[in-house]
Amino acid sequence: MRKADAKCVGLFFALSRYRGIPSRSHRFNVDKFGSIIYYRKTMTANELRSKYIEFFKSKGHAEISGKSLIPENDPTVLFTTAGMHPLVPYLMGEPHPAGTRLTDYQKCVRTGDIDEVGDPSHLTCFEMLGNWSLGDYFKKEAINYSFEFLTSPDYLGLPVDKLSVTVFAGDAEVPRDDESADIWAGLGIPRQRIHFLPRSDNWWGPAGETGPCGPDTEMFIDTGKASCGEDCRPGCHCGKYIEIWNDVFMQYSKQKDGSYLKLDRKCVDTGMGVERTVAMLSGKKSVYETEIFRPIIECVESITGKKYGVSEADDVSIRIICDHVRSSTFILGDQKGVTPSNVGAGYVLRRLIRRAVRHGRKLGVDGIFLAEPAKVVIEQLKGAYPELGERREFVLAELHAEEQKFLETLKKGEAEFEKMLPNLLKNPQRIMSGRLAFKLYDTYGFPIELTEELAREGGLTVNREEFDEAFKKHQELSRAGSEQAFKGGLADHSEATTAYHTATHLLQKALRMVLGDHVAQKGSNITAERMRFDFTHPQPMTKEEIARVEDIVNEQIAADLPVKMEMMPLEEAKASGAMALFGEKYENVVKVYSIGAFSKEVCGGPHVERTGGMGTFRIQKEQSSSAGVRRIRAVLEKS
Ligand code: ALA
Repeated sequence: MRKADAKCVGLFFALSRYRGIPSRSHRFNVDKFGSIIYYRKTMTANELRSKYIEFFKSKGHAEISGKSLIPENDPTVLFTTAGMHPLVPYLMGEPHPAGTRLTDYQKCVRTGDIDEVGDPSHLTCFEMLGNWSLGDYFKKEAINYSFEFLTSPDYLGLPVDKLSVTVFAGDAEVPRDDESADIWAGLGIPRQRIHFLPRSDNWWGPAGETGPCGPDTEMFIDTGKASCGEDCRPGCHCGKYIEIWNDVFMQYSKQKDGSYLKLDRKCVDTGMGVERTVAMLSGKKSVYETEIFRPIIECVESITGKKYGVSEADDVSIRIICDHVRSSTFILGDQKGVTPSNVGAGYVLRRLIRRAVRHGRKLGVDGIFLAEPAKVVIEQLKGAYPELGERREFVLAELHAEEQKFLETLKKGEAEFEKMLPNLLKNPQRIMSGRLAFKLYDTYGFPIELTEELAREGGLTVNREEFDEAFKKHQELSRAGSEQAFKGGLADHSEATTAYHTATHLLQKALRMVLGDHVAQKGSNITAERMRFDFTHPQPMTKEEIARVEDIVNEQIAADLPVKMEMMPLEEAKASGAMALFGEKYENVVKVYSIGAFSKEVCGGPHVERTGGMGTFRIQKEQSSSAGVRRIRAVLEKS
């Protein structure tokens, strides 16, 4: 058993020096069978990010900053899942203070397919490059920009003959996208490499159940690998074609009842995955072989003494550790500061950390080790995401604490499972009862996912339904609920939701009046039925304070105050006394919402036009959320 004692950050610097591939050079890439794949240039993630932003700025786009990984005012997803996610209100019609042409890079987390992490391509967190037109240009310019960025020798310099595209084939609701096909053909893509595919391939969004969506055109690179069969074409998963970019023509908003409403303003939303594109540009078959993951893998190699590329089982564990450390570092290092817990985003974080720890043990690590690869991740990314550098000590301390806690749990749970195994294997159906899995959870805090993983390794399946039933009965906080939350859709923009959004502004101001100026919003979560609001305050509120806050909010509702939006430079907004979320990144020009003379906040909107008729504001619960942070759950009662 090896102890985690590596000094991986030094290693990272050394590696990045000797691997200093001249970024602007065109080179031939040779795959492992010795054949030349094609002519292209290699780029690091840093270079790709800057090139992309530089390109779109040269096309009149304003660079905006990527946002927190924790969506603001979106109750149905736990994390920002795509570059467009923070832009939903603007795609739905809100004016953006930076204009109608935007570009950025955004950290994203998708944990829906966490069990697939371990194979060479799945990641739970990734960076997405994007450019947007908010009612400005449409298909022609979007496709022209994509083509130029991909093929121009000043940018990616990819050969046109390796590029294939797909466009929407049309169905009963939306016609075939001949316009996009013609634009691609006009740029020199032969018709046989323009594929018309159905909604299952060429329709993007909404990110969940409701919200902006539309037909898309996707760009693929031919890796030079042999076709897997006659039907092999872009969209096939055999690995011959890699999708690198997606231009979505946002023209619809999917409603709760499943219908599609035409948007007044046509928008473009595009997304290019950084990790995948870097892999493709450097001729690597897997993101884990790129300069993004190599230093993290080398750190894990030096801790575990295992070499990547020797045994598939070890490789799976190494990839899981690297991916999960990277995601956990991003989540812990986020400006909104999530910590491991048993609900919501904190629960996902806990799962990621714990799964990485378990795979460390599989590779023979006995001690605490995750902080070492996390340091490598922070070094790599703090330039692009300064919050990671600023929160470095916090990230490392939280990882350490969670790891320590879990190691205790793990030792007990694994020993218990080993004891159960001989009996379980006597069961001819090889099913482990949900009750037994629940006992492991309840008695030892052993997470169900790990029980399932151990069971799988022992050739068993867990009766998950039975587990869920037992779990629901015993837990007030249903984990099934939080699972649903991150599979679910984006926040709707119904009247009820909008009123709750406005109520958060009234509440924040009222809290500051009653409790003091130390109160600052830490997060909010809104549905059409209720709101949650987290804020800094060191102790529970008294009954009187709660009643006073309710009264103040209700007075503002009764006063039917007008809500006004103005755009102004951030500094001016702050100087005028507008509240802004501490630690959030804002553009240079921001939207400021004033509610009468009562409240003024920097915010993306949307809000009600007047406060009258919002209902009666009632605080249902006031409780602790984490150290120094209180949580209010409140409703707007309609009489
Ligand atoms: N939102 C689109 C995607 O994530 C661009 O692919």
